Amino acid sequence: MRLRLPRGRRASALDRGGALIRKLIALAALLLGAAAAPGTAPRAFEQLRWTAPGAERALLSEQPATCMAGDDDMIRGGGALFATPTLLGGQAAKAGLSCASCHINGRDNPHFLLAGVSAGPGTADVTNSFFSAARGNALFDPVAIPDLARPGKVSRDPETRALETFIRNLIVEEFGGQEPTPAMLDALAAYVRRIRPCPGEPRVVRRLDDQLAAIADGAAGARLMARRGDRQGVQLSIAAMRYQLGLVAERYAGSVFARDRAALLAMSRELQSIGEIADPRETRPALDRWKRDFDAGLARRLRGAEVRSLYDPKRLDRTLR
Ligand code: HEC
Repeated sequence: MRLRLPRGRRASALDRGGALIRKLIALAALLLGAAAAPGTAPRAFEQLRWTAPGAERALLSEQPATCMAGDDDMIRGGGALFATPTLLGGQAAKAGLSCASCHINGRDNPHFLLAGVSAGPGTADVTNSFFSAARGNALFDPVAIPDLARPGKVSRDPETRALETFIRNLIVEEFGGQEPTPAMLDALAAYVRRIRPCPGEPRVVRRLDDQLAAIADGAAGARLMARRGDRQGVQLSIAAMRYQLGLVAERYAGSVFARDRAALLAMSRELQSIGEIADPRETRPALDRWKRDFDAGLARRLRGAEVRSLYDPKRLDRTLR
């Protein structure tokens, strides 16, 4: 449901609210885009665009641990969407920002720093979305990024659907994303409701398995959306898988891995064609075939070479120096 406000007031509230953060993200994206070298130079780590200087190694080698309270297709599919920049659309997507950029594994990100959006590491200004367009303010008032595993301001009670409303407004009003379908919102809320800390294990190392698991989650989500006949949901779940393939490519840098990066790109293009299949009933068999090929071929090869990739902390250190 859209917020109904008198015309003029609504426009100005949105201008001061969502539009501000969008402009700032646009600016950050522009500056960073200009700095990125085109062509065959090894792709820089996208996540470092919003990482505090000095925290690069910490961000790329470790992550907050999350123990999900459930793992059905809805929850897994929601997790995949949560980590996908195109869910947010517009300039945030161009900059590569997703929900998970601020809430890593649904937790927080103490290293998040984006000019114009953060006051210091671990903070962001999204208050305008939180207080809704009606209370949009022109203040720059970043707050600490909350850990979604902890009880917060927004009720997680499925009865009230306050969480669904909050997420919908965040996507559409704040980040200028496309209106999410009911199935996408259900999945995102199901995921957020199940985020839990892992007792005795605050942080874990980053591994290729993170991306492989996320690809499997995206596939589970795409199948679910296909069952529901939700094309937008299918396409975004496939975008989620493709985004993870891109993260893998970042870690397999250098000429020794040129063949693997080419294979990743080819698999990503295949996924794109699967996303373009018009009849959702045909999506599923195509996706199953893709996944079988991927698991038996490329995923295996990448696993075998993981120690020589930038998932290896020592090699990562050398490239960051
Ligand atoms: C730019 C960083 C950033 C991004 C991107 C982001 N968030 Fe947040 N999120 C925050 C901050 C900061 C708050 C706290 C806002 C406040 O307290 O006023 C927050 C609050 C929340 C809350 C409320 C937590 C509570 O207190 O109950 C939820 C739920 C949430 N975000 C989910 C999401 C989802 C889902 C997405 C993607 C659609 C997302 N966030 C994207 C920074 C971010």
